[in-house]
Amino acid sequence: VSDLARLVGLRRVIACVGPGGVGKTTTSAAIALGAARRGRRTLVLTIDPARRLADALGLPGIGAEPSPIPAATAERLGISPPGALSAAMLDSKRTFDALVDRFAPDRASAARILANPIYQHLSDALAGSAEYSAMEKVYEVASGGAYDLVVLDTPPSSHALDFLEAPARLTGFLESALVQRLLHPAASASRLGLRWFQRGAHRAFQLMERLSGVAFLEDISEFVLAFEGMAKGFRERAAEVERLLLGPACAFIVVCDRSPQTVSGAERLQARLAARGARVAGVVANRVRRWPPGLQGWRDPSPGAEDALAKTLGREAARAALAALAGYADAVSRDDAATGPLAARARANGLFARRIAELRRDVHDLEGLAAIEHQLFAADPA
Ligand SMILES: Nc1ncnc2c1ncn2[C@@H]1O[C@H](COP(=O)(O)OP(=O)(O)OP(=O)(O)O)[C@@H](O)[C@H]1O
Ligand SMILES: [Mg+2]
Repeated sequence: VSDLARLVGLRRVIACVGPGGVGKTTTSAAIALGAARRGRRTLVLTIDPARRLADALGLPGIGAEPSPIPAATAERLGISPPGALSAAMLDSKRTFDALVDRFAPDRASAARILANPIYQHLSDALAGSAEYSAMEKVYEVASGGAYDLVVLDTPPSSHALDFLEAPARLTGFLESALVQRLLHPAASASRLGLRWFQRGAHRAFQLMERLSGVAFLEDISEFVLAFEGMAKGFRERAAEVERLLLGPACAFIVVCDRSPQTVSGAERLQARLAARGARVAGVVANRVRRWPPGLQGWRDPSPGAEDALAKTLGREAARAALAALAGYADAVSRDDAATGPLAARARANGLFARRIAELRRDVHDLEGLAAIEHQLFAADPA
């Protein structure tokens, strides 16, 4: 599949990944917009509560619950049924809490766990829990039936694979020596063993309690007992989430901008995703400066150009104008050199590749978003 229009029709999850600040959030929103225009019931899950994006979509704000864009905005954007566009923001902590609700044996123990101070620390600190719960949310939405497609924005991260590793890391955590010792103290998994462990740790905990004033022992034993009932559910769920992410329903789009650093970052990321078994469907190089089509003659001005310009502008202004044009021509060549090979390699590998022009202003309204969407979905690639 080498074009985005086909891709949004075929996949259930499209994840935009890449270095910080290159335009992942913007690209995610534009892809979601394009999908909705093409008749898909689409949710863009953003991690960035950017005002700009909410504004551009005509929403008062983007919350944890998906909100459909207003009907008037949808109409202006050319979205009509069955196509639909909603946006939501990922809220890791709440998603993690929802997981506890799901896997706890009953309501009372769920409530106990959620209120437990150890859980509160642990759910924040759990290796990769933020990324994991992001993936969990994607899974929930993608398998929920309310949307045909989830477009996932990902955090600005130099460890862009974190979220892909998250299910494995959560499982790893559950199987870690620490958790296993808490769950299965001593050699035996019996309650007797747990009590033995508690007695063994008692002195240390007593000291901590004295120092912190927190009822540590009670908290931890309660947490461990409650958690034991959930560990299996968590593990199985993590495996399902991983299957979704690495399966044929999910496509990754690697985003970079015109800077050579982000381009090489994108290439490394592409290789690492592929090595993990993820399906990279395309690359997007954003903010590429282009020579304005109407000014072709000025890209390489003739020797007489300065004199000709000077007649109307004056000598000084003519020089300044030509210097500015030369500077921009340079930038255009640099951006082309930085992003061209990336796009060419991607196409040679059967991937979709688009280079998106630098817009004159930030993408803060419908027109801006639509301009990006137009370029992303353009049939003949730049
Ligand atoms: N083609 C473009 N032309 C002009 N401005 C752009 C373009 N693409 C994105 N921007 C602007 O660049 C800024 C960064 O974009 P965006 O927030 O999408 O990046 P990001 O990769 O999500 O960043 P982060 O890694 O911080 O989440 C925004 O202000 C956005 O409006
Ligand atoms: Mg972002």
